[in-house]
Amino acid sequence: MASITLKNLVKKYGDGFPAVNDVSIDIEDGEFIILVGPSGCGKSTLLRMIVGLEDITEGELLIDGERVNDKAPRDRNLAMVFQNYALYPHLTVYENIAFPLRLAKGKHSEDEVKRLVEEAASTLELTDHLQRKPANLSGGQRQRVAMGRAIVRQADAFLFDEPLSNLDAKLRGQMRSEISQMQRRLAVTSVYVTHDQTEAMTLGDRVAVLKKGVLQQIASPRELYEEPANIFVAGFIGSPSMNFIPGQIEDGKLKTVLGDFDVPAEKLARAEGKKIVMVGIRPGYFEDAKLVDEAKKQHGATFTTELTHTEWLGNEQYGYLNFEPSPEVRDLLNSLAKDLDADELKPQIVVTLDASSRLRAGRESELWLDTRKLHLFDPETGENLTRDAEAGAALTDEANQERAEEIAMAREHDNSAGEQRAS
Ligand SMILES: Nc1ncnc2c1ncn2[C@@H]1O[C@H](COP(=O)(O)OP(=O)(O)O)[C@@H](O)[C@H]1O
Ligand SMILES: [Mg+2]
Repeated sequence: MASITLKNLVKKYGDGFPAVNDVSIDIEDGEFIILVGPSGCGKSTLLRMIVGLEDITEGELLIDGERVNDKAPRDRNLAMVFQNYALYPHLTVYENIAFPLRLAKGKHSEDEVKRLVEEAASTLELTDHLQRKPANLSGGQRQRVAMGRAIVRQADAFLFDEPLSNLDAKLRGQMRSEISQMQRRLAVTSVYVTHDQTEAMTLGDRVAVLKKGVLQQIASPRELYEEPANIFVAGFIGSPSMNFIPGQIEDGKLKTVLGDFDVPAEKLARAEGKKIVMVGIRPGYFEDAKLVDEAKKQHGATFTTELTHTEWLGNEQYGYLNFEPSPEVRDLLNSLAKDLDADELKPQIVVTLDASSRLRAGRESELWLDTRKLHLFDPETGENLTRDAEAGAALTDEANQERAEEIAMAREHDNSAGEQRAS
């Protein structure tokens, strides 16, 4: 188990283009870190630099405080956990797990191999399956075999590169929870690459969001969601995505295509001097005005609109409304869509409504918006002008504390299990 420190890492390929540009991250012992971002943003490159498959152009990589830039992959004692299809179909589960030990020829006695494989199998709940072949296992069991291989090597950290991207949605969900539970049980430092924001949010202790090789923000999922640093992170994290509409501040009000809203003065003050701002509103900040009680209503704004259509999903529903953007705003939306690797950002607003709402398309609808929550972004730099850094840091501190407790518990459990075996 180890800490991993990335210090101003730069990777330039042959053509001089920086695929990774000045990335610094301190990964703590036992932490589960996600590298997320659209395709081509440098996630795999960064992971391959950590494991040693790619040279580091500039910067330093430390494992447990020791510089390893020039160490060969095998001397870094890190394990890449490959997708389940990297298992050997003709070998039993036992031999698949034992494989890395056999590779280190003569290093381990047969007794030692047996002990290490059986220990890993017990942790992974594979003891009853050791003599089976991978083809006869469920997807989750196969993923565990793949992790078993990393465990017997007693690697200091596990590295994953989009291990679930080839699976269907249902299996992906199952495997996600397998990996998350295993990571906690083993309390092993893990770095996991994905382009999927749901995977990032559900797995990560902290999530590092990358855009074009540059680290945008690293924080707990909650902090990314509640206090995004910029419009890119805000648009990437959360599903359905945050809505962006143009706004102008005039006479202490925020004028938007949805209406003129009273917004807390301290929020507006943050945008002072800006002629136009991008207003970021998560779908969940809206509600059917009929379903909001009076006490709450006064903390937001009520406005009338017409929905183009609604989608009822059982537990909630989505409503959609269109707006007519100016050419400048359309350009902004297009360039943001390009950054996010999305097809197109329609000039459309998505709102989530309670499942009981009777609002339907084609009639006047009264919606309520929680104006305390909206964010204002600088349209030129994308910076979140209304970010509350302190509140954000508190959310990440909380997550860090939770993690520390969970790891301490897992290790204590491990020790007492070891003592039982020894006695
Ligand atoms: N071997 C390579 N030679 C040259 N350019 C590369 C190589 N591998 C990746 N790149 C470039 O580096 C950037 C980051 O790639 P990559 O790390 O694979 O992104 P991701 O994993 O986020 O999709 C891309 O622009 C890609 O084209
Ligand atoms: Mg990749």
